[in-house]
Amino acid sequence: MFFCCFTKAPQICCSWCWICWIVCGLAFVQSSEESNLCIDIYDEVGIGGGASGMSGGLLHPYSPKVKLLWRGEECWKESLKLLNVAEDARSSKSLDMVMPKTGLKEGDFIVRRSGLVRPVLSVKNMHMMNDNAQNCIASCRIESIHKDAAQKLVPDLCVPLDLAFHMPEAVNVNPQNYLEALYLACKTFVKSKCSLGISCKELNLHKESVLNLLELAGDYDAVIVCLGSGAAFLPELSGRLPLRMCRGVIAHLQLPDHIREDYPENSPSILSDAWLAVQGPQTLYLGSTWEWKSRNFSRHVPQEEASKALAELLPKASAVYPAIKNWTVKGTCAGLRAMPPLTAEGSLPLLGCVDEFIGGPTECKYWLFTGLGSRGLFYHALLGKLMAQAVLSCNEDLIPSELTSWKHRVKQ
Ligand SMILES: *[C@@H]1O[C@H](CO)[C@@H](O)[C@H](O)[C@H]1NC(C)=O
Ligand SMILES: *[C@@H]1O[C@H](CO)[C@@H](O)[C@H](O)[C@H]1NC(C)=O
Repeated sequence: MFFCCFTKAPQICCSWCWICWIVCGLAFVQSSEESNLCIDIYDEVGIGGGASGMSGGLLHPYSPKVKLLWRGEECWKESLKLLNVAEDARSSKSLDMVMPKTGLKEGDFIVRRSGLVRPVLSVKNMHMMNDNAQNCIASCRIESIHKDAAQKLVPDLCVPLDLAFHMPEAVNVNPQNYLEALYLACKTFVKSKCSLGISCKELNLHKESVLNLLELAGDYDAVIVCLGSGAAFLPELSGRLPLRMCRGVIAHLQLPDHIREDYPENSPSILSDAWLAVQGPQTLYLGSTWEWKSRNFSRHVPQEEASKALAELLPKASAVYPAIKNWTVKGTCAGLRAMPPLTAEGSLPLLGCVDEFIGGPTECKYWLFTGLGSRGLFYHALLGKLMAQAVLSCNEDLIPSELTSWKHRVKQ
């Protein structure tokens, strides 16, 4: 059987579409007993769409706006499992190569396990966060803490209402490193199965772009479109997906060497009206802006857009972490999020078989995986697994109906 996944993702959430299909790939190679399985992945840039550090990578199962995220605990646990798979793949590789232990660059991690802290700035979302704290899942606790305790976590943190929420188990993921390691895990898995003679599978990455779905028609048993917002630009799907586009800019900040107050090694990253994703004692990412209705997926941020974004982000960062004034902006980059519609269960990604959109017979050939919005990291592992199962068994019913119901709404 031949499978193909493709993505093109020069964007913030971009890394997430890459994640989606790499996860599908992993699930494929691991779950299928079928002996001749070939997976071709198309991306014109390469792993992660060249989107290194394009996303904050803050992972936790809560939102300050809703009671509980859809399948919160399951999504959280599946994500942690895959992070471990990626870390194992990378550490066995580095054993092979006898990588030097010293001289690790800042940001050279897959997961930074230092938690997250959210100082309360207004009473608006306080009740929901309190509610989350009381009903939190055991593997990712939320503790409400006072100013003293919060400032022990992050010296100089502003806690104006003497209340902050601390998630000690929440993590920071470096998306590019994570993706590269997951891809390595897929490769290693395929190789080990082959050498044991159990089954021969193939996994190939093609640095090519795919301009329309029919291009792939003849060659594959199944095609999975993991294009993020790019799905809406495919001729076959254009104008037919209920996605709202939203451009986001994030900034890369560095602390100059002459400033002595480094960000402490084990201090949590910060969530607020803006997020601060700490990469190391002198490096962090600050995001993100929300420019609704933009259709511009260029990573490049022109001077004018950068100034506007910083004028919005820096005061928000400063309101919780005044020391940000001592940090220098090293650059900005941008991406286009594909935001799914709000349903009774929340804003859920769009999955499913899309043969009927292509106009061919309904034979479970073309599949869509999009609308991860700003929660790609949270949903990727569980949904990638479900997607792979559905595609392999040619059965859309294996995907929860909440994720495929968008198709009925579109048709009406
Ligand atoms: C999108 O952004 C790029 C880079 O900032 C810019 O060159 C281009 O003109 C923009 N395109 C549109 C349609 O606004
Ligand atoms: C900036 O750094 C200087 C020198 O290390 C320090 O004295 C000052 O308090 C810092 N500013 C803020 C706003 O934290």
